[in-house]
Amino acid sequence: MRILFIADAVGVPGRRAVEERLPSLREELQADLVILNGENLADGVGITPKLADRMLASGVDAITLGNHVWRRGEIVPYLKDSERVVRPANLSRRAPGRGLAFVAGADGNEVAVINLLGALFLGPPHSPFEVVDDLIDEARTRTAFIVVDMHAEATSEKVAMARWLDGKVTAVIGTHTHVQTNDARVQPGGTAALTDAGMTGPHDSVIGVEAELAIRQMRTGMPVRFETASGDVRIEGVVVECGADGRATSCEAVRVSVQ
Ligand code: FE2
Repeated sequence: MRILFIADAVGVPGRRAVEERLPSLREELQADLVILNGENLADGVGITPKLADRMLASGVDAITLGNHVWRRGEIVPYLKDSERVVRPANLSRRAPGRGLAFVAGADGNEVAVINLLGALFLGPPHSPFEVVDDLIDEARTRTAFIVVDMHAEATSEKVAMARWLDGKVTAVIGTHTHVQTNDARVQPGGTAALTDAGMTGPHDSVIGVEAELAIRQMRTGMPVRFETASGDVRIEGVVVECGADGRATSCEAVRVSVQ
């Protein structure tokens, strides 16, 4: 099985890149399943039901989220019912939505998709390490194919989670920093890992934002209204190949120029 994970899609450029390029890319990469981190789709922060539906209609099988999950209120009822859009599992137990979803790939196999939020800087109610073992146990009752999106700021947390889950899941993919790391690997136990999958959106920017605006805010310490940049749009992510036992056999970063 080949799983394509697409990194954080940002704003209109990210949405367009997926809509226009994913159908052919999916074929080129022979992906059986596509997972997208979509927490920055709505002008850089959050996601709306309409945007989620558009991504799912473009060949995305499951969407993961992150720290901006609640930025758009209209997503709340959608998350309650959605079986393919997952929010971080280590939020409050009373929060709507799910942190684990089962989606079917093109080859008929079911894949468990888990979304976690890093503890450092993002401050979720529970540590991802506190909840992950039970989630893996639950996932393994149904399938050997398990993909974890570890949405976190700190590389240490993402590397530690990948090591902890080695031999227990198919892949641990880091998201959130929007800068693709150069460490795609299959660990000794058969779990693929990449510390950060990168960004699907405008790379002529400061992680998706118009560079001049981000720099102005940092130089002056004053509030600045951020706008999504537009130049050098790429789809970034990772392709993980695994055998029938769910163990990864290869893990390769993907970077495709779209304009
Ligand atoms: Fe994020």
